Amino acid sequence: MSDAVPSASPSRPQRKLYLISWGCQMNDYDSAKMADVLAASHGYARTDKPEEADLLLLNTCSVREKAQEKVFSELGRWRDWKQAAPGRVIGVGGCVASQEGEALAERAPIVDMVFGPQTLHRLPQMLDATRAAQRPMVDVSFPEIEKFDRLPEPVASGPTAFVSIMEGCSKFCTFCVVPYTRGAEVSRPLDDVLLECAQLVEQGVKEITLLGQNVNAYRGRMGDTAETCDLALLIDYLAQIPGLARIRYTTSHPAEFTDALIESFAAQPKLASYLHLPVQSGSDRILGMMKRGYTRAQFLDKIRRVRAARPDLSLSSDFIVGFPTESDDDFMQTMDLIAEARFDCAFSFNYSPRPGTPAANLRDTVPQEVKEQRLAILQARIRQFDDAFRQALVGTTQRILVERPARRGEGRMAGRTSCNRVVNFEGPETLIGRLVDVEITEAASNSLRGRLPGAEAA
Ligand code: SAM
Ligand code: SF4
Ligand code: F3S
Repeated sequence: MSDAVPSASPSRPQRKLYLISWGCQMNDYDSAKMADVLAASHGYARTDKPEEADLLLLNTCSVREKAQEKVFSELGRWRDWKQAAPGRVIGVGGCVASQEGEALAERAPIVDMVFGPQTLHRLPQMLDATRAAQRPMVDVSFPEIEKFDRLPEPVASGPTAFVSIMEGCSKFCTFCVVPYTRGAEVSRPLDDVLLECAQLVEQGVKEITLLGQNVNAYRGRMGDTAETCDLALLIDYLAQIPGLARIRYTTSHPAEFTDALIESFAAQPKLASYLHLPVQSGSDRILGMMKRGYTRAQFLDKIRRVRAARPDLSLSSDFIVGFPTESDDDFMQTMDLIAEARFDCAFSFNYSPRPGTPAANLRDTVPQEVKEQRLAILQARIRQFDDAFRQALVGTTQRILVERPARRGEGRMAGRTSCNRVVNFEGPETLIGRLVDVEITEAASNSLRGRLPGAEAA
């Protein structure tokens, strides 16, 4: 299939795209790129009204069974939509598409295009081909880094932006489907990443989050040399872009959370005070079975050092409870680790066996109700640390990047602290995109309230 991007026809009425995006931030990034690529090729505009659309794209996630099953029930709901107007097209992308390939089009015949996370740039050609041939097109190959070379210039949609710096994952944790759906780790060249970030900053972006499933493994080619740039060095380069105020990255893998990255938290003021470092379990036996490549002691040592480097750090993590054979004792070790590490935020999940992964061959020994109980205990404990963390911010002055009007309340704006907490405060819309100092007055259940210096208390 040729990769030349066809140009938009000016005479046709504007085509509309309805896009549903599930899964991680990398999927969000990819979804935005799908819209960009189709806007450039066929003049598609996004709509939030499906009845106006002639193209539906579903960007899917298969990390847990529920996410996977949701795809087929969602597709069932779109049958009538497709039949209601001739020429309507349905495309399914992302990790379920990647895993199922042809089988997806067979199981859901209303689907016209199946594409993977690394072939989304070929959407324009697939769209023309499926219309011409009147049959489904499937392309879930992994053409390395080609995708990024074929994408139009990034378009900023506010003061913050995501930039994917690598694709795939080569870690093969025994429970995880990602290496199979997204392929092996491949880093984008340094110059490409710097250019995309600079283009975003030129459009007013103040904060960039670097994305990858295992972002610490970034090794971007430097120019035409054989040398590579790691994540710590990339952060240093980015920090030199005038106008860029904050840098974040996610997701980090503890085994590759290097001394240089720890040092960045001490040396690089533009690096935000937030670290997402998924640990999954506090039991060495379970960590070994998961093939995570670190022990509890090694993890805690890194936490101790990164906290010394950046004392006001917000620390977040991911946990899986109920991995096969997880005993009460294993779970207690996870709870102990939470107390020692003091995570103030976490994403926690019941273990879900994924077909094709090594752990799926183990007997899922932990009863569902035990998984539920453990998850509830773990989440309540994290909530305590979260509450304490937010309470400790009350009375302090925080520099926030103002992102948008607050979801509730006229005349209120919402911004984010360096430690990734949302703050709502009274202020004019002209502050959007600016960094302002706000005094934190109250810790609400999921956000903070604040006021501009000199403003009356609300
Ligand atoms: N790359 C990241 C890392 O190494 O931690 C995680 C990426 S994964 C998309 C996000 C989270 O989903 C994982 O950290 C894990 O907690 C959870 N997860 C992955 N596979 C899972 C499974 N089979 N069952 C339950 N949760 C799972
Ligand atoms: Fe999955 Fe492990 Fe890769 Fe994270 S590091 S994406 S958990 S295989
Ligand atoms: Fe889901 Fe794929 Fe992301 S499985 S979490 S969308 S990498």
